[in-house]
Amino acid sequence: LPLPKDLYRPLRSNSDGVEFGDQKALSALLVEIDASRGAKFFAQPASASMTQKRAIHSPFDGTRVGDVIEADAASLDVAMAAAHRAFSAWGAQPAETRAQILERAAALIESRRGRLIALLQSEGGKTLDDALAEVREAADYCRYYANVARELMRERALPGPTGEENRLRHVGRGVFVCISPWNFPLAIFVGQIAAALVAGNAVAAKPAEQTPLIGFEAVALLREAGVPADALQFLPGDGAVGASLVAHELTAGVVFTGSVAVAQEINRALAKKPGPIVPLIAETGGINAMIVDSTALFEHVADDVCASAFRSAGQRCSALRLLYLQEEIFDACLATIVGAAKELRLGDPGDPATHIGPVIDRGAKAALDDYLARRRAEGSVVYTGAAPGQGCFVAPHVVRLSSGRELNQEIFGPVLHVAPWRAGDFDSLVAEIMAANYGLTIGLHSRIEARAKRLAALAPAGNIYINRTMIGAVVGSQPFGGFNLSGTGPKAGGADYLRRFVREITVTTNT
Ligand code: NAD
Ligand code: ALA
Repeated sequence: LPLPKDLYRPLRSNSDGVEFGDQKALSALLVEIDASRGAKFFAQPASASMTQKRAIHSPFDGTRVGDVIEADAASLDVAMAAAHRAFSAWGAQPAETRAQILERAAALIESRRGRLIALLQSEGGKTLDDALAEVREAADYCRYYANVARELMRERALPGPTGEENRLRHVGRGVFVCISPWNFPLAIFVGQIAAALVAGNAVAAKPAEQTPLIGFEAVALLREAGVPADALQFLPGDGAVGASLVAHELTAGVVFTGSVAVAQEINRALAKKPGPIVPLIAETGGINAMIVDSTALFEHVADDVCASAFRSAGQRCSALRLLYLQEEIFDACLATIVGAAKELRLGDPGDPATHIGPVIDRGAKAALDDYLARRRAEGSVVYTGAAPGQGCFVAPHVVRLSSGRELNQEIFGPVLHVAPWRAGDFDSLVAEIMAANYGLTIGLHSRIEARAKRLAALAPAGNIYINRTMIGAVVGSQPFGGFNLSGTGPKAGGADYLRRFVREITVTTNT
């Protein structure tokens, strides 16, 4: 079997046993995945009063992957009340107990990886390497936040004058609403929940409407690991369910990952909510740029640009959207990039040789096709790749702009925009990128060390990548998240993430 390119990456949790060149482990994994293919999945909230099922179809070939019963207003109220009741007991557990439950969940995620990967491929259209990386990331979040919680939730004595004792401790806030997107239906879904739970909160989890089945599998697995069912409520549904959860009187915090527009809507809704001020953690998108100067190595650039812009069909918040090539190398470097893009194979996400799978659904495909038709009409499309005629496929495209300012929205698909820049103008170029008011990821390919240092000093984005891809942040190594329109922070997979999920309590006693 050909090895998927991304099995080259270092292992994240080091325990799934599939390493570069290990054909035996890879074959065993493919057998596991195959064993789960064709299974029908089903997801529902615990107290659904509706019996209306909605079918979930594969974005690759349209087959029915399973069914979901979505939460209605009555089941949502019942779930929130149950979570609120469960909060006291769950929050009162020692942090160590909750941490151990997350570690059990991580082990279960790894042992069920075949089933999870099969579902990520059929419901989410993920390629093997993307699905494997996502399973690893989900397990990593559980282990990482377990360890952060052990430290953060430890009660500590603080200094004070003689005769006074000061003690600081951190406790959960109540019911945390976790709202996640479809593009990381396992890793982000589990990451948000794991953080909220281990910090002592109960959780109301709403997966994206496109990917409820993988969400349900994750919830079942977390409960099997020891999370009390009432402390983790599963509420599948569309944006209206999310909005009702945000507005609910028992909501004590919201963690959201998704589009800027929805983050802003949630922010407004929370501001208008009567009662306590409810914290929001929001992670959104960006118009992520990469700057390439004339000292860069073209082949290296081409590899990293193709991975950053086209891998996962460009459906990563971190993905490269706008490539700035220095004028002197513009044509030659672009030709190398297009040459590399021609090698990318689109097709069945279940085939290990596939580099790029489908986009998530027909709506996403139609929006991208419309956008590309407009660009084609204006004559700016310089490369169109080959895509299968069936399924929700969008071929990789390269769009040439005369100025990067012409791109003013996040295009969430395999579309790379390329613009020229003039040497000597580095600071103004970075200022132009920052003027878009995002701040998620930025890349630089250059062998000028001072330039890399200058970019880091200017801090135009939350994640800055020098001479490498701009995707695939690793938990604990590259805490991930941006600022401005790209999000509120704190960074997911970083040591500070849990702080916003807790209340800080100081007890001062006159002894
Ligand atoms: P989306 O904003 O459309 O939906 C995200 C979630 O919000 C879904 O569960 C949806 O049902 C829910 N929702 C929709 N309207 C709501 C409302 N009014 N109130 C509450 N919830 C509501 O985003 P998407 O299309 O699922 O995901 C793609 C977007 O997510 C892209 O913009 C991408 O950049 C971003 N993203 C960001 C990160 C990050 O870490 N920064 C990671 C992944 C994706
Ligand atoms: N954390 C994901 C990445 O870095 C979005 O690609």
